[in-house]
Amino acid sequence: MAEAPLTTHRILLIVGGGIAAYKALELVRLLRKAGAEVRAVLTDGGAQFVTPLSLAALSGHPVHQALFSPDDETTMGHIELSRWADLVVVAPATAGLIAKAANGLADDLASTTLLATDKRVLMAPAMNVRMWQHPAVQANLARLRGFDGLHGVATVGPDDGEMACGEFGPGRMAEPVAILAAIRDLLAGDRPLAGRRAVVTAGPTFEPIDPVRGLTNRSSGKQGYAIAAALAAQGATVTLVSGPVGLDAPEGVHRVWVETAVEMKAAVDAALPCDIAVMSAAVADWRVDGVASGKIKKAPGGPPSLALIENPDILAGISAPGPRRPALVIGFAAETGDLVDNARAKLSRKGCDWIVGNDVSDDVFGADSNTVTLFLRDGTSQAWARQSKADVARALVDRIVAHFA
Ligand code: CTP
Repeated sequence: MAEAPLTTHRILLIVGGGIAAYKALELVRLLRKAGAEVRAVLTDGGAQFVTPLSLAALSGHPVHQALFSPDDETTMGHIELSRWADLVVVAPATAGLIAKAANGLADDLASTTLLATDKRVLMAPAMNVRMWQHPAVQANLARLRGFDGLHGVATVGPDDGEMACGEFGPGRMAEPVAILAAIRDLLAGDRPLAGRRAVVTAGPTFEPIDPVRGLTNRSSGKQGYAIAAALAAQGATVTLVSGPVGLDAPEGVHRVWVETAVEMKAAVDAALPCDIAVMSAAVADWRVDGVASGKIKKAPGGPPSLALIENPDILAGISAPGPRRPALVIGFAAETGDLVDNARAKLSRKGCDWIVGNDVSDDVFGADSNTVTLFLRDGTSQAWARQSKADVARALVDRIVAHFA
């Protein structure tokens, strides 16, 4: 199973002044690769080891350095920076930074931000072995770890090993991959769908007529992929059953490729049991009865006629009562008219819990935005303003989180 993505997460990285600062650059790279947004605060000491330019280039944001800078304070000041973040990471955390944080000293941007933050703080200490072993440092760390609730600081490392100063022992900053793992662990605690399993269908199906032709539709899969990504970002373990589309699998999502409705149904069944099912695929209602084994040739008698047979209804099947029915089943209703009546009728006919209705006469296929109405089983509905498919996905997943809360 791939690692869960950090796509909705914002990390504020404080880079202190130590030789290990160079490893902070690799950490920024790993965080960005995992999908997180990263902003960096560079202390004066940190700037002796890495340049603001490297950090800015890797993070994709300007680097924050001064407490009293007209530029920094107007774009994003220390209070705003600390609110913006989901997690504050200090790497390397020097003995000086640890001492300031433990004693509430606020005399530069890094220490002020640490005091102002209302988010968890993770420190990756790095210093000379004698400094690390000094009771003052250990007392400061014990104090930081012991603060109540959110204020309790988490730590990762240091590792044992040969140090840049030539001495040997504990004090080397944890490797960036270990810091990334610690970040994931801390954030997982905040992810409300952690431990829940979800199956999402997306895209069109393709029903072959012969080896070269088939019946399909104009679904792009974008909405279903965005929902899979949003569920994974909230900690769910997601299987994405996808028809043929040209999209990358969202990070942390297990994708299963299928072509036909029959294959899609088998893949959904194989993903059960799960807690959440979101059936957003545009499944072909019919398939060709007796797919030709060779290419059908043009014949003098005129065009061939195709005999169609009905495909299994995956949504109705998964919604049927039984021990394997997911706790929450969500269907889609793509309509070109009478959205409210058609969506409501579909909700009761299929037996699902919610239906996301959208009017597809409105240039939705392949587009990046969508206008949807959410219909619930209790007869209520909510019309959402046109928004990006990613925002529709986030709004839907927020409702799912509230449902399970
Ligand atoms: N669906 C499904 N299996 C099918 C057909 C549809 O799981 N064989 C699901 C879709 O993924 C969607 C919902 O049912 O969540 C509604 O799909 P839609 O094509 O709008 O409905 P149909 O049942 O095909 O009804 P109609 O063609 O009459 O609009």
